[in-house]
Amino acid sequence: MEFINPAYQELLARHRLLDFNAFWSLPEDWYEEPNNRRRGWSGVSIHRLPLAEEALALFVKRQENHNFRSPTHPGGRPTFYKEFRQLLALKQRQITTPPLVYYGERRRHGRRQAVLATIALAGYCSLDAWLADKSIPAGEKSDRLEKIGRQIRKLHDHRFQHRALYGKHLLVNRELPADAGGLAFIDLEKTRRWPLMTARLRASDLAQLLRHSPALSGGFDRDLLRGYCHDRPPWEEKLLVRIEERLARKNRRRPPGEGSTAGQDAATPKAPG
Ligand SMILES: Nc1ncnc2c1ncn2[C@@H]1O[C@H](COP(=O)(O)OP(=O)(O)O)[C@@H](O)[C@H]1O
Ligand SMILES: [Mg+2]
Repeated sequence: MEFINPAYQELLARHRLLDFNAFWSLPEDWYEEPNNRRRGWSGVSIHRLPLAEEALALFVKRQENHNFRSPTHPGGRPTFYKEFRQLLALKQRQITTPPLVYYGERRRHGRRQAVLATIALAGYCSLDAWLADKSIPAGEKSDRLEKIGRQIRKLHDHRFQHRALYGKHLLVNRELPADAGGLAFIDLEKTRRWPLMTARLRASDLAQLLRHSPALSGGFDRDLLRGYCHDRPPWEEKLLVRIEERLARKNRRRPPGEGSTAGQDAATPKAPG
């Protein structure tokens, strides 16, 4: 199957990127070391579009035999297929993700290959890089994190659990003022939409983020959770307990000295107001 976003069709034609093979044959200057898994692999590269009116680049993800199986896809399907579906589903709900440009898959010599291309979000940086930026005043970070908490809440309220909610998969729009939020979600291969969103599912995403972003500990975690629980939902207490439990459990498993993170007071947000 193949999907081409009609909004980019003309631009892709100008760059001779109109079929699977054109994307598949792009130079393999990997943006990150490709992941190898059993007999398959998955890699990401960035490609400028010099013929675009404004500076534009694509993130092109390519994979081979990097499949999942499910009752609807018993023969296996590329994990990018899931990400493709979730990019459409999130966009439909006005949750910011990079614009989808192309998705395609094929079989070659019994191996499944897939390509997923999105527009590189210009002016954004990862939440991790943003947190590490010492030129941003702490007050501005607090305000923005409250908004970021609200945006993660929106994702969850639509019953999506990201399941790889790390600082590198949250992109912050640096060009917007702090009170605008401006958060984009990326890497949706593991994202799932549940029939019912529970405090346990919410806590699992949030604890994952707090645990992997030590820069959030000591106050910013509370700003984020205050935004997430801005309307004091009835399950707030349950959520905070679950987050605390998860952080405690994972920290216990980690050998001592291996940087404990958010932990301790992450789950005790300031009372709002
Ligand atoms: N559309 C995009 N805009 C900006 N950065 C992106 C975009 N897509 C991917 N990236 C960058 O590439 C990295 C790898 O992409 P990701 O979707 O996480 O692939 P993988 O499944 O290999 O982890 C991300 O962590 C991010 O830094
Ligand atoms: Mg990733």
